[in-house]
Amino acid sequence: MANLANRTFFVRSSSAVFVRSRVLATALRQTGPSVSDNLEDKMNFIENETEQKLRGGYYTPSDLAIFIAQWVKEISPTSVLEPSCGDGVFFSALSKVSGFQKSKIMGFELDPVEAVKAREGARDAGLDATTIHCSDFLQWSLDALEDRSTKFDAIVGNPPFIRYQYLPEPFQVCAEAIFKTLALPFTKHTNAWVSFVLASMALLRPGGRLAMVVPSEIGYSGRS
Ligand SMILES: C[S@@+](CC[C@H](N)C(=O)[O-])C[C@H]1O[C@@H](n2cnc3c(N)ncnc32)[C@H](O)[C@@H]1O
Repeated sequence: MANLANRTFFVRSSSAVFVRSRVLATALRQTGPSVSDNLEDKMNFIENETEQKLRGGYYTPSDLAIFIAQWVKEISPTSVLEPSCGDGVFFSALSKVSGFQKSKIMGFELDPVEAVKAREGARDAGLDATTIHCSDFLQWSLDALEDRSTKFDAIVGNPPFIRYQYLPEPFQVCAEAIFKTLALPFTKHTNAWVSFVLASMALLRPGGRLAMVVPSEIGYSGRS
């Protein structure tokens, strides 16, 4: 488990993906298909899940958000996207590393209470050109991908980790449509965070930087 928890990130040419340590989920997967499938079947019923888990509401520690903000700042971005901003830890991080005061920042958050916190936090931090939409990022991204007019210099975040089966139907439709739009194969085992990362990558301008906190299953191929 220590090894899994310590696997922090990998970097590609224009993007960095930070691996959030979901040690329990990863450990279950690593025990092999028969044990893990049985355990997951017994453990995961939608009625047993908390509101926090059903919306994928696990927040990023401030020091990690600041580290990510420093990394994207190196390209002096003038536009930044946070596709699932929660209470706005990344906006606070952007303001702490400075240089983002004039950047056009766009955020999305489904939960109205959290969206208000994020909006107020960004305003209090002096990020004056920030717009936070209390709406579904996946639907917005489909429209943006279709009209091809919107690209971002930097994209940061920690997308919701929600099993496909737990997503409300309209979100399932959008998650699948993102794969179709990008001509990628989709299965109903695909967790919500994957659609967020793919849509975000497609909205990144060439040479931009994307840094996201994701589950360690990103390194799991499904084949042993
Ligand atoms: C893992 S939390 C991360 C919050 C914040 N980015 C952070 O790093 O602390 C994911 C957030 O995504 C929100 N969310 C879930 N589905 C969403 C959707 N379709 N569009 C926008 N936000 C969504 C959840 O309410 C939750 O606050």
